[in-house]
Amino acid sequence: MNIITLLKADHKEVSELFKKLLKSRTTPSKESVFSKIYEALTIHAEFEEKVFYPAVRKSAKTKDLVMESYVEHDLIKTLLSDIKDIPSKDEIWKAKVTVLEEIIKHHVQEEEQDLFIKSKRILDKEQLKVMGEEYLNFKKDQGNSKN
Ligand SMILES: [Fe+2]
Ligand SMILES: [Fe+2]
Repeated sequence: MNIITLLKADHKEVSELFKKLLKSRTTPSKESVFSKIYEALTIHAEFEEKVFYPAVRKSAKTKDLVMESYVEHDLIKTLLSDIKDIPSKDEIWKAKVTVLEEIIKHHVQEEEQDLFIKSKRILDKEQLKVMGEEYLNFKKDQGNSKN
């Protein structure tokens, strides 16, 4: 499957999880939804950083966008690890979750409406498909190493 289709599916999944998280009322439910977000974003970001971004950053069309994406990922990861360490009943917890959701919304919009469109002009269909297979295997390995 095409890597861009897979990355977009993750974006959608994470956005649904955020809706669920902000509606969650109990600590166990908040913690379980947050850990799903944490895991999904960690795997997604790692693949983008190690495989997808390096494959498209060489073009002058995408170089700046990719550099910005790395910086946005750093912000996202900092917030993820902050939130992991804060009790969900703490006032700052909801503020951090809300800001994280906002940064992700912005980041996803830039990827989907700009970087991914340009990437389709840099990589051909076969390359996108091969990278998609690689991502599915990467996800499988991450899942296995947890058990
Ligand atoms: Fe992404
Ligand atoms: Fe990203």
